[in-house]
Amino acid sequence: MEETTAKDHTSEFLLPTNPLAFYLAHKGEIDAAIAKVLNGGWYILGKEADAFDQEFAQYLAVRHAVGVASGTDALHLALRASGIGPGDVVITVSHTAVATVAAIELAGAAPVLVDVDPVTFTMDPSRLEDTIKEHYVGGKPTARGRLKGIIPVHLYGQPADMAAIGDIARRYDMYVIEDCAQSHGASIGSLKTGAWGNVAGFSFYPTKNLGALGDGGALATNDRELAERIRLLREYGWRERYISDLPGMNTRLDELQAAILRVKLHYLDQENARRRDLARLYGSFLSGTTLLLPKVRADAHHVYHQYVIRSKRRDTLRVFLQENAVGTLIHYPLPVHLQPAYQGRILIGAGGLEHTQRVCREILSLPMHPHMSDEQAQRVGDLIIRWDRLTGSKS
Ligand SMILES: Cc1ncc(COP(=O)(O)O)c(C=O)c1O
Repeated sequence: MEETTAKDHTSEFLLPTNPLAFYLAHKGEIDAAIAKVLNGGWYILGKEADAFDQEFAQYLAVRHAVGVASGTDALHLALRASGIGPGDVVITVSHTAVATVAAIELAGAAPVLVDVDPVTFTMDPSRLEDTIKEHYVGGKPTARGRLKGIIPVHLYGQPADMAAIGDIARRYDMYVIEDCAQSHGASIGSLKTGAWGNVAGFSFYPTKNLGALGDGGALATNDRELAERIRLLREYGWRERYISDLPGMNTRLDELQAAILRVKLHYLDQENARRRDLARLYGSFLSGTTLLLPKVRADAHHVYHQYVIRSKRRDTLRVFLQENAVGTLIHYPLPVHLQPAYQGRILIGAGGLEHTQRVCREILSLPMHPHMSDEQAQRVGDLIIRWDRLTGSKS
């Protein structure tokens, strides 16, 4: 039988992302890596997981990386290992995957959600500082809990303003836990995301820039003691097998996923470069339209996990593209504080969440993945230009 190529699967309906194409692009190497693990007889936390931890740490230029079972577990464990739990407050954004907020509650801490900058979609440092100040009345903390952590999210592959956030964290003595689930390989200046905070959590969900073929995640840190605690906590608190030094959990990266990730890590920079090329193409096609296009913060290396535009007519654009065989997604249609599980019980930061609530009605993620062709990007561009001309001039 002829080998299926990624192109066969994308030439008809254009998917917003395509994990099958991610596999097919490296099929030979991935199949060989899987066969090696299957025949090796060791399936959890073995040589592949150790090698991946080292290679990923080296890639990020941090001292330690520790593989775990998912990005949610990585953030949860980052908080627990930092000593953050019941009675503590962690500040993050509402415009994120629900996992960011879920991880805070899993650790037993209370989330406080602050607004994003509407241009970069990342945490607004001035709202962060106002929220911290609001917490202290007459120099003393209020009854809300101890302010302990900040989780900036590098949403869509654009790094948050880490210089400003790091400065605030130092002044108020708070931990910074980076949510790097969407930012593998992104950087500010020469420092990659994952190397800015005290600790970082990554997801290897299959559609991520570095994706496994199942669940996976990792933590990154330069702090040796923290890395050691994370390694214990991820496996029942064991230093010695069957003897728990700490009350831990089970969140291990299995050998198959580690072996697959080792293959894919080799291609991460190349694939991120392709995402950036596609973003440039989209930018050139769409610059004359009424859409608001992504803007990159000065000094930031954006890796376009998503290419997200804004339009007040987002819903009609989405229908038009769907009717013309182009799939899109909305990341995210409802901010976390308005979702049924959280509404009415999550603390909101100073100044409210005006931008968060507005952008979620206007954002649209166009098809974006490294195995898309220029022609496919052009097709999306042509359709949007046609739609824009047909439907008026107001965005
Ligand atoms: C911003 C963000 N944080 C955390 C996560 C959680 O990762 P996982 O799905 O691997 O648990 C994700 C992935 O969906 C994410 O996009």
